[in-house]
Amino acid sequence: MKVYEIQAGSTSLDGIQPGERDKPAPGPGEVLVRMRAAALNYRDLAVATGRYFGGVAKEPLIPMSDGAGEVEAVGQGVTGLAVGDRVVGAFASGNPPAPLGSPYDGVLTEYRVFTEDGLVKFPAHLSFEEASTLPCAGVTAWNGLFEAKICRPGDTVLALGTGGVSIWALQLAKAAGARVIITSSSDEKLEHAKKLGADDVINYKTTPKWPDEVMKLTNGEGADHIIEVGGSGTLPFSYQSVGRGGEIALIGVLTQPDGDLSPHPLMLKGATLRGIFVGSRELLVRLCRAVDVNKIHPVVDSTFAFDKALDAFRYLQSAKHFGKVVIKI
Ligand SMILES: NC(=O)c1ccc[n+]([C@@H]2O[C@H](COP(=O)([O-])OP(=O)(O)OC[C@H]3O[C@@H](n4cnc5c(N)ncnc54)[C@H](OP(=O)(O)O)[C@@H]3O)[C@@H](O)[C@H]2O)c1
Repeated sequence: MKVYEIQAGSTSLDGIQPGERDKPAPGPGEVLVRMRAAALNYRDLAVATGRYFGGVAKEPLIPMSDGAGEVEAVGQGVTGLAVGDRVVGAFASGNPPAPLGSPYDGVLTEYRVFTEDGLVKFPAHLSFEEASTLPCAGVTAWNGLFEAKICRPGDTVLALGTGGVSIWALQLAKAAGARVIITSSSDEKLEHAKKLGADDVINYKTTPKWPDEVMKLTNGEGADHIIEVGGSGTLPFSYQSVGRGGEIALIGVLTQPDGDLSPHPLMLKGATLRGIFVGSRELLVRLCRAVDVNKIHPVVDSTFAFDKALDAFRYLQSAKHFGKVVIKI
């Protein structure tokens, strides 16, 4: 079968190369999936360039955590899935469960074996490409909005940037009846976000003191939820933007430290900073239910053919995208 592999020691995207491996067979409790689509996350750039937690790949590694496909065969004892089922892989799977695409082999392959509990049937209205965006970006946004301080109708959600996680957050927050303020470096992307339902938009390049704008837009109250994908460089600004009793979902690592990172500003507001690491399979199931009921179509910016997979990685790296970048398998 055809795969892509990050070569051992890779520190650049050139280290991702096409390869061949034997088609696997499902053992007891396992399921063989014919992969149809894989969605890229910022994390996949970090893994391929040796900047992820595990450092550079020590042996050839199939990249990417997020994929959807159809069940081709089931192993002995599998009861919940059958041949032909359309499934998406959970971000972490296997025994013991660990993230796909590092340390385990990922989904940029024609076939992959999953444990049965590493898969979820996805809503019927979704294409494979759309479904492939659920496991990491979708679940992370879901976790940030609904698993601790619950996003209620009328709440204000502030999402930073227009990448995969933030656009998922926009769509989910609107489905929950919340007000959404979103930021971007691009006015064109902000216009796109408005069409998707964003109530207010801020260009963080032309409005570098964007917390002032958040406060103005909320009559000094601040945001109830912040989808914090920037990290150390934007966190001090999120401290300023969060409202009383609000929650900052700490998700991203896109920026370098900048400003005072001390969390003391949260104390006077009774606000919370919550670290997030994607989410469990249960969260993926809950997300699928919400996507089904609300007939949400995740935003796929562009789809690349399997033999153009490297172009997809480079496109994500250019940050020209809005929402998700997907590879068809
Ligand atoms: N903790 C977790 O479980 C978890 C899960 C998923 C993702 N993440 C992390 O979350 C971050 C986003 O992931 P992703 O996959 O959504 O990335 P992505 O699709 O590549 O999106 C990146 C976007 O972030 C925006 N951005 C960059 N610098 C920014 C800044 N200073 N202020 C505001 N926005 C900024 C840009 O939006 P514009 O082009 O609109 O300016 C850029 O397009 C990454 O650091 C990723 O590693 C963490």
